[in-house]
Amino acid sequence: MSHTRRHAIQLMGAGAASVLAAATPKLDKRSFGKTQSGAAVDLYTLTNANGMEASITTYGAIVTSLRTPDRAGKMADVVLGFDTMQGYLSDHPYFGAVVGRYGNRIAKGRFSLSGKEYKLATNNGPNALHGGLKGFDKQVWQAQSIGNNGLRLTYVSKDGEEGYPGTLTATVEYTLTDANELKLAYTATTDKDTVLNLTNHSYFNLAGEGVGDILGHRLQLFADRFTPVDATLIPTGELKAVAGTPFDFRQPHTIGERIDAAGDEQIKFGGGYDHNWVLNGAMGTLRPAARVSEPKSGRVLEVLTTEPGVQFYTGNFLDGTIKGKGGKAYNRRYGFCLETQHFPDSPNQPKFPSTVLKPAQKFTSSTVFKFSTEK
Ligand code: GLA
Repeated sequence: MSHTRRHAIQLMGAGAASVLAAATPKLDKRSFGKTQSGAAVDLYTLTNANGMEASITTYGAIVTSLRTPDRAGKMADVVLGFDTMQGYLSDHPYFGAVVGRYGNRIAKGRFSLSGKEYKLATNNGPNALHGGLKGFDKQVWQAQSIGNNGLRLTYVSKDGEEGYPGTLTATVEYTLTDANELKLAYTATTDKDTVLNLTNHSYFNLAGEGVGDILGHRLQLFADRFTPVDATLIPTGELKAVAGTPFDFRQPHTIGERIDAAGDEQIKFGGGYDHNWVLNGAMGTLRPAARVSEPKSGRVLEVLTTEPGVQFYTGNFLDGTIKGKGGKAYNRRYGFCLETQHFPDSPNQPKFPSTVLKPAQKFTSSTVFKFSTEK
């Protein structure tokens, strides 16, 4: 048990509010195990002055745990995942991972770039999903600590890996601030023209992971439009107004209110929400994407990003077969993802913001997950 946690538990007897007593931010490192091929994997835990903790493993740059206070100061882990490396080596739907080289779908696993056609593995029906059979979520990243509140992870993806052109050097920097923000800053460079879409695939449950579904959470999305999809979840190319649809979260609604809206074709295709929203405001500038609140715990998550879109996914494919932390079954809709990103299938959609990265360019992208509480 960490000193902070022992200290917090002692304090809890004296009143939960004192758990928030200021502490010095710190960064701990331990071994998390090995991959199937024997590569060593580490687990880093960042703790801020309020006792909020973020654990991140070098395997897949996965956020394995995120402990945040509720309105009474009581900590809970608000992300789905596993206790051990073994869990992450098993088949799971990208819990907490950084997905790449291309997060989300590319239609039929094909795109052309600079006059050449590229073929990717089709691992999601007819389409390519989340970077292929062994995407960035299944690679070991090199870690470097930044002071006592940050971790930089670097992965070099070889030219041709998973079918993508160019040697791509990707970094993600996780910073845990004393304002209870987990900040993610991505960079990437390439030696040939390539396509790139990096995101974090955390599944949040603000009541605590494994305790129930997320249907009672209230969601606001700062988006007037979304990208409707076909039956295989590839965008049709239209940027459709959310007004008058179950996709209108311009004002807060519970996630469950319209998630099974009868007769809505888009809801049917997604089995609930599994769509990309077109965020308002200028891409490239950090601006609000989403705000989620959970009435019982009072926890609030605000998401800000420089990305043009966000995939809101409600864990429709979870079915209880995966046993997560403490052996808890993760049932349907036990978590939600807010994957800040470029739009799905951008390499085949000339009207969408470009996901092409050229050798002379440096890709940068930022997302902030800010935690707070309300009454
Ligand atoms: C993304 C996709 C979903 C699903 C999950 C992983 O959010 O959009 O359709 O594939 O990843 O299960």
